[in-house]
Amino acid sequence: MNDQLIEKAIHMRENAIAPYSKYKVGSAVLTDSGKIFGGCNVESSSYGLTCCAERIALYNAISNGYTKFTALAVATKNGGYPCGACLQVIWDLCGEISIYISDISGNIKNKTSSELLPNAFDKSSL
Ligand code: THU
Repeated sequence: MNDQLIEKAIHMRENAIAPYSKYKVGSAVLTDSGKIFGGCNVESSSYGLTCCAERIALYNAISNGYTKFTALAVATKNGGYPCGACLQVIWDLCGEISIYISDISGNIKNKTSSELLPNAFDKSSL
């Protein structure tokens, strides 16, 4: 299942719209029922409107009615980590899950949400 999730994230890079950064990102999330949803980064000429692949993958799953997740994969050419904004959203929507960070050769770093975003701000802080 994790192999499928990582493969999906790598594949999703092909759909990226990244004419400004040229940095294609693919992502995929695994639901607690075993379904996989993908996303890719979509950039805007008004740069700040760009949306990252991880958030699009999560919003894709959520808008299809799935709200519980066990893992997320992200794929880039160089195995880059998820940005801070995505880590916040991952923490809010998924809590503690596995995060697989892959490059396009299939080298994988296996982390968790709290490893990547320790001492997170969340609803318990409000
Ligand atoms: N990007 C993602 O899709 N996910 C991340 O976690 C980091 C950055 C995208 C946003 C932008 O399109 C490009 O990568 C360069 O920042």
